Amino acid sequence: MTATPTTPILRLSGIDKSFGAVQVLHDVSFDVRPGEVTALVGDNGAGKSTLVKCIGGIHPMDGGEYWFEGAQVQVHSPREAAALGVEIVYQDLALCDNLDIVQNMFLGREKRRGLVLDDTTMEEMATQTLEGLSVRTVKSIRQQVSSLSGGQRQTVAIAKAVLWNSKVVVLDEPTAALGVAQTAQVLELVRRLADNGLAVVLISHNMNDVFAVSDRIAALYLGRMAAQVSTSDVTHSQVVELITSGRSGDLGLARSNGVTA
Ligand SMILES: Nc1ncnc2c1ncn2[C@@H]1O[C@H](COP(=O)(O)OP(=O)(O)O)[C@@H](O)[C@H]1O
Ligand SMILES: [Mg+2]
Repeated sequence: MTATPTTPILRLSGIDKSFGAVQVLHDVSFDVRPGEVTALVGDNGAGKSTLVKCIGGIHPMDGGEYWFEGAQVQVHSPREAAALGVEIVYQDLALCDNLDIVQNMFLGREKRRGLVLDDTTMEEMATQTLEGLSVRTVKSIRQQVSSLSGGQRQTVAIAKAVLWNSKVVVLDEPTAALGVAQTAQVLELVRRLADNGLAVVLISHNMNDVFAVSDRIAALYLGRMAAQVSTSDVTHSQVVELITSGRSGDLGLARSNGVTA
């Protein structure tokens, strides 16, 4: 969609990651650009969530480089990732049912005035963030999260991620548990984040979602980056081939690269 390619804000290069004897990521390189939605696709077990957890500082990488805004950095914890402006909305949504929207958005990073919680400021910030994202489906920011629909929960989780002046927001399967209407709402929100200048990474299994909102597609196959392409340059079936066999015509992994299909 973009005529002139922007420089990546986040660049991973040559990432290896093993759990015990099992190598899950092999020499993975991955670029993310501001103002774009980058779809990260791949079959179950391809390593998408592991890659995202490396980006978010949850898993240490065994090897490879992490570049942010043109400088090589070390990210050893979620706090260090957040300090760069990298926020992850994990697949298993980390929202607390028994807390309200504001409490969830500020969980662990509460605003205080002296020793007491600064509820006024937190409410203002939560309201502004939701309004900034044109979220109008939530009745009250003091509503308990347990009373929200799946789509509203995703919205709150995404709002929580953008509250912190984030620059890169990674969403791990945000529409997996949603129906058609709620999926459409969340995808609209995803698009709006990128149009506001954020770099968005969207993990999804759903080709319709991927083609509806993404500017680029990165396909992981058995822990290897098979291809990273412009969405406008590929067809659904090419992406499905990349996902299922790591290659499609000239695109993808060479046969010598552990790919036998
Ligand atoms: N904490 C972990 N310990 C051991 N193996 C793991 C761990 N997390 C993921 N794996 C393994 O890594 C592989 C990739 O998993 P994952 O990154 O969750 O894939 P995806 O998100 O693409 O479905 C799988 O084989 C999975 O079993
Ligand atoms: Mg996953």
